[in-house]
Amino acid sequence: MAEILGCVATSHIPAIGGAIHKGLQQDPYWKPFFDGFPPVHDWLGKVKPDVVVLFYNDHGLNFFLDKMPTFAVGAAAQYNNADEGWGIPTLPPFRGELDLSWQIINTLVEREFDIVTCQEMLVDHACTLPLKLLWPNGDCPVSVVPICINTVQFPLPKASRVYALGKAVGQAVADWDSNKKVLIMGSGGLSHQLDGERAGHINKAFDLQFLDSLLTNPEWATQFSIHELVEKTGTQGVELLMWLAMRAALTTGAGCSVRKVHSNYHIPISNTATGLLALEKV
Ligand code: DHB
Ligand code: FE
Repeated sequence: MAEILGCVATSHIPAIGGAIHKGLQQDPYWKPFFDGFPPVHDWLGKVKPDVVVLFYNDHGLNFFLDKMPTFAVGAAAQYNNADEGWGIPTLPPFRGELDLSWQIINTLVEREFDIVTCQEMLVDHACTLPLKLLWPNGDCPVSVVPICINTVQFPLPKASRVYALGKAVGQAVADWDSNKKVLIMGSGGLSHQLDGERAGHINKAFDLQFLDSLLTNPEWATQFSIHELVEKTGTQGVELLMWLAMRAALTTGAGCSVRKVHSNYHIPISNTATGLLALEKV
């Protein structure tokens, strides 16, 4: 059976792509953000995942307001990136993991999640940047199963539903008849609001409590409604749902405890609070 190694979540601000492209990692503005990653690189170098299951939210590249699935699972041999208009380089295609895609899709439908299966799927900065941050040099060494959760157009799935989805995905991975090693990833957040009257809204106290909860009490954030999450974390801060799905995927299968590999929290990049969390399943 497949092995879940642990999870890594990170923010996905498009400007990170520009900073990587220009080599600004040591620039005073960027250093506190990029300094979070070397301990995670060291851990990944030791545990060597083969496959990543990545919870992310598309921002209008693959799904637009006319067709907006609540949950969509990639089932493609390859995922292409494309220009979203942020002025950042387009990354080369990512390798899919078809067998795991269908294992997850079959499990989710059996467990009464009405998902969209995507045999073609463009992946945006929320997918490409976390992978580039974890594997900055050369080709991406892992194959990927992207799972998209709508945080763009209301109604959004509530936190408890997202947690249940993550749990079912974790079970699907744990039951996968494969000797591959799987890393679960979450992309988005933490607190931020890009526009409107509260543009620039950041809630450090909530973010830190949320980060802590993922270690000590992973269901903590499921007590909040979507509107409460938006109120607390901002209209885009609700992307923290990806972190919740990711963490829930670690609560099934053999060994449900986790240890913290590393975390980082920095304000601001863009007008966003950035977070990084890596947990190992023990
Ligand atoms: C920004 C943050 C995001 O999460 C995103 O998807 C796009 C832009 C930003 O802060 O610029
Ligand atoms: Fe985003």
